[in-house]
Amino acid sequence: MTLVKVQGLVKRFGPAAAVNGLTFDIKEGRCVALLGPNGAGKTTTLKMLAGLLEPTEGEVRFASGPETAASGFSRPSGDIRRLIGFLPQYPAFYNWMSGREYLIYSGRLAGMSKLEAKRRTEEMLATVGLAEAGNRRIGGYSGGMKQRLGIAQALIHRPKLLLLDEPVSALDPIGRREVLDMIRLIRKETTVLFSTHVLHDAEEMCDDILIVNKGRIAAAGTIAEVRRQYSEPVIRVQAEAPLDESVERWRRFACVNEIESGRYEARLSVTDLEQARASLWRDLGEHGVPVNRFEAGRTTLEELFIKAVNAQ
Ligand SMILES: Nc1ncnc2c1ncn2[C@@H]1O[C@H](COP(=O)(O)OP(=O)(O)OP(=O)(O)O)[C@@H](O)[C@H]1O
Ligand SMILES: [Mg+2]
Repeated sequence: MTLVKVQGLVKRFGPAAAVNGLTFDIKEGRCVALLGPNGAGKTTTLKMLAGLLEPTEGEVRFASGPETAASGFSRPSGDIRRLIGFLPQYPAFYNWMSGREYLIYSGRLAGMSKLEAKRRTEEMLATVGLAEAGNRRIGGYSGGMKQRLGIAQALIHRPKLLLLDEPVSALDPIGRREVLDMIRLIRKETTVLFSTHVLHDAEEMCDDILIVNKGRIAAAGTIAEVRRQYSEPVIRVQAEAPLDESVERWRRFACVNEIESGRYEARLSVTDLEQARASLWRDLGEHGVPVNRFEAGRTTLEELFIKAVNAQ
């Protein structure tokens, strides 16, 4: 079931568009990565989803109970905050508070009774592995502990959608691992959308992936779909002698779209893998090129991401 529908979302700051027409759905129970380089528009998108920024155009609609709009989706004008938990990219804490005090305070802010906030705080401290450290001042927490406290804060009111803005980017490897493991637990119960600029995190953690660049979607779908849909046939050749002359010949092959080459290696995007493999293999043989490596396959997700990032 679809939890959120995002339609034609645009955010302009002056003449520049930080987000430039995003349309996508988030399905309930999924873990979705919003993947993009610096400045892609991830934070702006998440803030609009969280209701903290007003879109210039387009809208974000949440599936609500059958009692509301006929479509079953409500506009953001209603109070969507109870549905959303948000961990900002640069969370600020009151360092003089203890983790426990902070969570009780967050629960009270979310409208919980004192008793409920206290009970939920104990639950959350245990979930994020801070039960022992609950009475220590936040100022003395490590980066990983602060992020976990931030996640607990975002979950205190049992939101339907958890938005995490680069939850692991600022952490050392140990902190990263702690927080990624945490997200892996949480995603079993809550729909999660998290932003990252690290492809590996997206592949490791998520069902679905949204690759954004310059405010637009470059690729979207399940990881497998994106791999299948967007990957292209490619041949890589590496030789012991310079490949310049060969590359010149290959440029004229009908089955070759594009060649990136160094002196001793070349990467060819081709239209048909079988045909290109046969033609190139024959050509290499005819010209006695001393080949070290010949590899026919498809572009990896990594290459797709880099291409999306470099594309205008
Ligand atoms: N309040 C603002 N005023 C003007 N420009 C802004 C504002 N917020 C963001 N931008 C611009 O919008 C673009 C997208 O920014 P955004 O912070 O959403 O990107 P991001 O993908 O989160 O990047 P990062 O990976 O660095 O966090 C950038 O070019 C940024 O400079
Ligand atoms: Mg950001």
